[in-house]
Amino acid sequence: MTDRPIAILGGTGPEGFGLALRWVQAGETVIIGSRDGQRAQQAADKVKQLAGSNARIFGMENVAACGVSDLLVLTIPFSGHAALLKQLKSALRPGSIVIDATVPLAATVGGRASRTLGVWQGSAAQETAELVPEGVVVVAAFQNVGAEMLQGTGPVDCDVIVCSDDADAGHVVRKLASKIAGVRALDGGRLENARILEQITALLIGLNIRHKGHSGIRITGLPAAAYISQ
Ligand SMILES: NC(=O)c1ccc[n+]([C@@H]2O[C@H](COP(=O)([O-])OP(=O)(O)OC[C@H]3O[C@@H](n4cnc5c(N)ncnc54)[C@H](OP(=O)(O)O)[C@@H]3O)[C@@H](O)[C@H]2O)c1
Repeated sequence: MTDRPIAILGGTGPEGFGLALRWVQAGETVIIGSRDGQRAQQAADKVKQLAGSNARIFGMENVAACGVSDLLVLTIPFSGHAALLKQLKSALRPGSIVIDATVPLAATVGGRASRTLGVWQGSAAQETAELVPEGVVVVAAFQNVGAEMLQGTGPVDCDVIVCSDDADAGHVVRKLASKIAGVRALDGGRLENARILEQITALLIGLNIRHKGHSGIRITGLPAAAYISQ
């Protein structure tokens, strides 16, 4: 178990809910964050129903969740990304890690789900890095793991590529990703590579639509030491 609770902001949606479920099943303590505390509690209760009464899962309003966790995951639509980060600014503490799974899909502003929006900073994760207070580290991860897979019961057939400018934070997040059954975590280099992770998601969504499935990615051909898994 990591020694800190994981707060998933926007954890009431399918992606955050799926991550919460997997981490709780792995013995982690998870807080589901929402704009509405009651909605967060309902989602937490649902996780408990699925994971069992010993599950350590709580629901809180997003800002309150930042007050009790320094390991935060952002799973919100890109349309609300900058506004939420500005709202959280005073609640984020130096030393915190913000893991950004946001994909700037055109669908969030009425466009296609298989296309992305241009983001001035290069990616949603880089926008996050610009908006968090000094001392808060941003790590990009989980963009390519679909909610359907996370909410399923079998091992997750997907690798998670983790990008950050902070080596220690990147390692923390790779360890966290590897707690999800089936996932192998890989160091994907600097945060600027988040733009590639985000684009891959749009491609995966297109594949899902075309072939009616739930696609993920696997990276092959690297030495075993490159992968962290359970
Ligand atoms: N779904 C997937 O398979 C998948 C896979 C990889 C990456 N992602 C990315 O992960 C993120 C979340 O995906 P999702 O499908 O779970 O999204 P979602 O259902 O559209 O949104 C997740 C949660 O975000 C909150 N939210 C909605 N609008 C908001 C706003 N304007 N400001 C602040 N919070 C807002 C809502 O929670 P409350 O109303 O409770 O606050 C909602 O339940 C997206 O960026 C997506 O691109 C998704």
